[in-house]
Amino acid sequence: MVEITFSQSIGSVLTLEKRAQLKQIHEDLYSKKGKGSDFLGWLDWPSTLDSAFMEKVEKTATQIRDKADVLVVIGIGGSYLGAKAVLSALDPYFKKETGLEVVFAGHQVSGEYLKQLLAHLDGKRVMVNVISKSGKTTEPAIAFRFLKDYMEKRYGQEAAERIIVTTDAEKGALLTLAEENGYERFVVPADVGGRYSVFTAVGLVPIAAAGYSIKDLLAGAADAEKVYNNINFDENVAVQYAAVRHQLYVEGYTTEVMAIFEPKLSFVQEWWKQLFGESEGKEGKGIFPASVSFTTDLHSMGQYIQDGKRNLFETFLLVQEANEDLTVFEAENDGDELNYLAGLSLQEFNHVAHKGTSSAHLDGGVPQLSLTIPKIDEFQLGHLLYFYMLSCAYSAYMLDINPFDQPGVEDYKNNVFKLLNKPGF
Ligand code: PA5
Repeated sequence: MVEITFSQSIGSVLTLEKRAQLKQIHEDLYSKKGKGSDFLGWLDWPSTLDSAFMEKVEKTATQIRDKADVLVVIGIGGSYLGAKAVLSALDPYFKKETGLEVVFAGHQVSGEYLKQLLAHLDGKRVMVNVISKSGKTTEPAIAFRFLKDYMEKRYGQEAAERIIVTTDAEKGALLTLAEENGYERFVVPADVGGRYSVFTAVGLVPIAAAGYSIKDLLAGAADAEKVYNNINFDENVAVQYAAVRHQLYVEGYTTEVMAIFEPKLSFVQEWWKQLFGESEGKEGKGIFPASVSFTTDLHSMGQYIQDGKRNLFETFLLVQEANEDLTVFEAENDGDELNYLAGLSLQEFNHVAHKGTSSAHLDGGVPQLSLTIPKIDEFQLGHLLYFYMLSCAYSAYMLDINPFDQPGVEDYKNNVFKLLNKPGF
């Protein structure tokens, strides 16, 4: 369960008029009548998954672990950020000595990165999961061209058994390649857009391959699906989050800064930025999602947040209980003058840092929200990601925006294709 606190009272945000608007959005959402409702497949996905699909994902994950030391996941945007967010949150900070290494490609176009990645693969057993809903996105397509060539040169005919494709069921160049080469295939459901796809095969295959419990992840998401399908807005924190940020936006706070104290959540921030930025930033509207990692950024961006232009609000994403911790010990020689901290755990230090930062920023005129999760594990991450997806849909609908398309992204793609003389552009 996500706990929420807000620097003003939630009651002052949930006016009668706002409650009526939210009730209408709830009805439109769950009866699939709102804008972009063809893309609401994610809404009841966690609770309606069939066991055959889960068995196929688990079986493939086991095969990947048996046959590979490294899994290269190729994708961009929603086709990589969900898995990257969950893996970064769950993985230890420093390289695991055993187990599958998951690396990403196709999320940028860097020749240096790709060249060094190919060199990194030498001597290791490799499998590839290429993910693209449209099956024609340039960045992952370029990366896959190189990886496919590498795999074929290295494994010959066996390469086909080491490549898994996750794409649309009916169309796209990637589907054609998969069919021609007999690659194992997973489908990105037609009614689930990239940034809402973490609980489909897009996220589940890499997460399960890395050895994490997708059952727990989905149980967390299903829990959130149940808890937040609720028109009692005094209890529904997913709706409250949307309502508060909308209220702040109306008051002129047009940038939301998500602040964390646990660096493992940095890719949850990236995933969240994509989710909200790509869903809401349309028609001249939308909150600009930004992120900082504390206490690191208190020594850099903290200055701006405290004293800069007053169009920011801050949302802390906090973790109640650390998975591992250290306690400051008493040193015989107090040369560093830290003995006053003896007995304090580093997690406790961060709780204090949050309190101090929060009141300083409030004094500086930055409205605040805090979202707290009990701990970082598969269940809590599943719950949190679903929480954000649902909040995002409410939030975009409050701006009268379709949360599920991305016309601005298409503009850039078309321009690049024209500049590169792609046939047909
Ligand atoms: O959320 C989205 O729809 C986008 O960010 C896509 O995920 C991204 O553009 C990649 O698209 P595709 O999976 O078709 O390669």
